[in-house]
Amino acid sequence: MKLPERTHNCGELSSNNLGLSVHLYGWVHHRRPHGGLFFLDLRDRYGTIQIVFRPENKQLYKQAEALGSEDVIYIKGTVVQRPPEALNPNMATGEIEVFAVDMILLNPSKVPPFLIEDDVKASEELRLEWRFLDLRRPEMQKALILRHKITQSAREFLNKKGFLEIETPILMKSTPEGARDYLVPSRKHKGRFYALPQSPQTYKQLLMVSGFDRYYQIARCFRDEDLRADRQPEFTQIDIEMSFVDPEQVMAIGENLLAHIFLKTRGLLLKTPFPKVDYTEAMARYGSDRPDLRIPLEIQDLGDILKNCEFRIFKQCLSDAGIIRGIKIPGGASLSRGDIDKLTAEIADFKAKGLLFLKFQEGELNSSFLKFLTPQEIQGIINLFTPGEGDLILIVADQSAIVSNSLGFLRTHLAEKFNLYNDQEFYPLWVVNFPMFELDPESGRLTAAHHPFTKPFEEDVHLLNSDPLKVKAEAYDLVLNGNEIAGGSIRSHQVEVQQKVFEAIKINPEEAQNKFGFLLKALQYGAPPHGGIAFGFDRLVMLLAGQNSIRNVIPFPKTTTALSLMDGAPTAVSAEQLAELGLKLCTPEDIHEPEK
Ligand code: AMO
Repeated sequence: MKLPERTHNCGELSSNNLGLSVHLYGWVHHRRPHGGLFFLDLRDRYGTIQIVFRPENKQLYKQAEALGSEDVIYIKGTVVQRPPEALNPNMATGEIEVFAVDMILLNPSKVPPFLIEDDVKASEELRLEWRFLDLRRPEMQKALILRHKITQSAREFLNKKGFLEIETPILMKSTPEGARDYLVPSRKHKGRFYALPQSPQTYKQLLMVSGFDRYYQIARCFRDEDLRADRQPEFTQIDIEMSFVDPEQVMAIGENLLAHIFLKTRGLLLKTPFPKVDYTEAMARYGSDRPDLRIPLEIQDLGDILKNCEFRIFKQCLSDAGIIRGIKIPGGASLSRGDIDKLTAEIADFKAKGLLFLKFQEGELNSSFLKFLTPQEIQGIINLFTPGEGDLILIVADQSAIVSNSLGFLRTHLAEKFNLYNDQEFYPLWVVNFPMFELDPESGRLTAAHHPFTKPFEEDVHLLNSDPLKVKAEAYDLVLNGNEIAGGSIRSHQVEVQQKVFEAIKINPEEAQNKFGFLLKALQYGAPPHGGIAFGFDRLVMLLAGQNSIRNVIPFPKTTTALSLMDGAPTAVSAEQLAELGLKLCTPEDIHEPEK
């Protein structure tokens, strides 16, 4: 059958097209008989349009009545004005309808497992299993269209700035970005494995050595790590690298790119330059290295006010080199003892031993521990927090990281509970001057906080061996509404510095040579100073789409246990395939069915 050429899509017809004969294609959405007529909403990715079948054409009417939800059809018809009582202002095509004169059922649909509409009742699991149907929902279609617009506007911006889009391999040697690698066994070289890129980091640095001084790529990255709502095992970065730059220049490109994307995709103006906050200050003021600045609450330090305090908890904490900090929650005095006990239990996850609180009610400060403070200390607390009627002050006294993590959590958790956000919809900011290393809480080992190719501050290089936790790095993160949406750094372009960093994280010269010999070699052949940044593209789309999970903006995402519910991946492979790859599975007991 030769298909008539589609003249219009289902979203573009209006009263400008009255009287026009049109050929439409789409899926059967709602359908209903009414007043002797049969109505059908025809849907495609552009919108929906009402098709009307009149009883005069009995055969066509019968055919229409027999249609089922999600059948895919062709309609020939005439555009007419709707009667005044039938106008639908909620529908883009709500002023008109199409009187059907012909219809072809192109392919019937089985009864779908859920209705294709935005207010979907189905569980996420069912939606993921039937993703090809879920993607028909307008909300999902909007998200994928937004993805497209963002990549196009990013390309437009970067091309104009002289960047070259260059592809790098997917089958590669491992790059450390802090997660486990996905490995691909080699058939030709049995016993050897490729790694899928955790990011194109090493390649983009090599491209700088090759002289491609402005590179970008919309790059797929693979990380075998514990998943959350904002993490996927495979995700996309807008990856950028530049030569002969300092952090300011990379950040300028990053924020102007973001501003361009916001303008082009949402018509929103982001004021540049974005504010910058030092990592140490961010941890002190917001208890997080990705603070949500839509929340106008700040953590305050009580160390000075309480330095001579006789209250046992404070005294002990300060003598153990701990810190005492607190945060005021406007309106928080309404929390009950039980609510505060719950919060105390939650911050125990960060190893906090307790949570002290003061309530400002009926014009005075109340707390079980006030009797242990001097009037000057109480006045000091009042001056610091200036509490108003009904406010709550929460205090944690402990080691620095525990205090920051606990108060950071309380800040965002209670801001959500009491809806303490300011009016600004998007609040971007840079967090800069990160520590070069951190201690891995599980192994107690020193690891690179960003990645080991990041350049330490020149004045800190001498501390790399003696006091590595004091070393700061030329690294920066871009944070939007409490989400880390981009991260980058200036790299060590001198081989000596790079080797010292490897030594600090206990990668001995032989191992460094084995793992990164190619990069160390390149650094010795005229490697220019360089640096870059990578945007978490899916997170950016999530925020721009107003979603709270990146799964909702990725066409075919995986679950939090890295399963693809639609096709069942990962799946077992045949014994022949394993043999060809020179692989043997341990014992049947070691092979588990994937958990959902
Ligand atoms: P980083 O590891 O910080 O830096 O990654 C850059 C950005 O990628 C996003 N991201 C993720 N998004 C979804 N799922 C994940 N599992 C995931 N992991 C990271 C985040 C993050 O800010 N090569 C460096 C960049 C550089 O130094 O230029 C890198 O990959 O939004």
